[in-house]
Amino acid sequence: MDLTRSPITSVQGRITLPPDKSIAHRSAMFASLADGVSIIRNYSPAADPQTTLACFRQLGVRIEQDGSTVTVHGVGRDGLRASEAPVDCGNSGTTMRLLAGILAGAGIPAVLVGDDSLSARPMRRILEPLARMGARIEARNGNLAPLEFHPGLPLQPMRYEPPMASAQVKSCVLLAGLFGTEPTQVVERIPSRDHTERLLGLPVERRADGSSLITSHRGIAIPPQNYAVPGDFSAAAFWLVAGSIYPDADLLLENTGINPTRTAALDVLRRMGAHITLAEAPGAVAEPVGHIRVRTAPLKATTFTPFDIANAIDELPILSVACCFAEGTSEIRGAEELRHKETDRIMAMATLLQAAGARVEELPDGLRIHGDPQFRPAAAIFETWHDHRIAMAAGILAGRATQPSTIRHAECTAISYPGFWEDLAAVSA
Ligand code: S3P
Repeated sequence: MDLTRSPITSVQGRITLPPDKSIAHRSAMFASLADGVSIIRNYSPAADPQTTLACFRQLGVRIEQDGSTVTVHGVGRDGLRASEAPVDCGNSGTTMRLLAGILAGAGIPAVLVGDDSLSARPMRRILEPLARMGARIEARNGNLAPLEFHPGLPLQPMRYEPPMASAQVKSCVLLAGLFGTEPTQVVERIPSRDHTERLLGLPVERRADGSSLITSHRGIAIPPQNYAVPGDFSAAAFWLVAGSIYPDADLLLENTGINPTRTAALDVLRRMGAHITLAEAPGAVAEPVGHIRVRTAPLKATTFTPFDIANAIDELPILSVACCFAEGTSEIRGAEELRHKETDRIMAMATLLQAAGARVEELPDGLRIHGDPQFRPAAAIFETWHDHRIAMAAGILAGRATQPSTIRHAECTAISYPGFWEDLAAVSA
């Protein structure tokens, strides 16, 4: 579905964000592995977290959903059942990579498949450590889905340092390690999102050199829990940028997850001069929650640090939109991981911003953006490559144009944020 958007004068009001996608995936997975019944409140209706529920149902877990409340009848760490039919991870890299760790650790035969986008994303990054632990997994060209899991001997423990900052790789190895009697450890130099550690209560040792050592093993209990999923900070980021670059904007984002390994976009925007206030709210999971308010502010350019890149990895597309409206030249470097997301997001954002008339250079590992506080995007037909975050970035950008623009395949926002276009209409003045 292509969507035509008219220019928007301002954005004002209160937004109820979609539930956090990363926390939703993990709560469903860990509740499935627990012995007993878990309740997950505010579970995400978005396509990716629904995919995780479908996968675990297929592996023998009874899961009921009543509105946004999900009841998971956990089967225990050794209770998953093999599936004859391929297990479809859809568009969701988190589902495929985390489930791979669980299947390998549990020794469950299965075939994981995905859609065209997921089938083109690199899996060697998880296959290599799992193979070192002794897992037998076949993949197309040794790197791509379908992934075929053959049960074998119990996995060997391992100490692993992933070559890239990736919560999915870290979580995959730690989840495989949960099935071993001896500890498996992951060394992390630049922190990536730590939801797996928090929700499973894994021991984390902060070392003198600044790195962390995270441990998992069979002795770590996975109790049934009551989870409450906070609003998705990655969804909030679209509004933080809209609230900064639209005139007379004032947006309130209540009950947003503000885990510090996720909120680098907030720091980046504040550094750029954004007018953002944050009030902590009571959280109901092992995750901090807050109310965020953003109002219009003049922005100045910034340079992204390696910490920003790892912790704002999903927010870089919309932050690149903010940079177009900032005084001076911003650089996003060291972000080659963006080329391996739902689409090549460096190429996608360079194309999108250039189509809008912004002065943007595509670099091998990022973008150089020559901003202008007076920038008004040209009306255009914006390609999205069916990538939800590119489509939402296009939507925020298109509203600042002077003429109507078209956003291609706008329905793909349902992967993480099914109500995005309705929310945009509701806050548009
Ligand atoms: C995620 C980790 C990140 C992120 C993705 C969700 C997670 O991927 O981009 O949207 O929930 O663990 P990488 O681990 O590939 O960086």
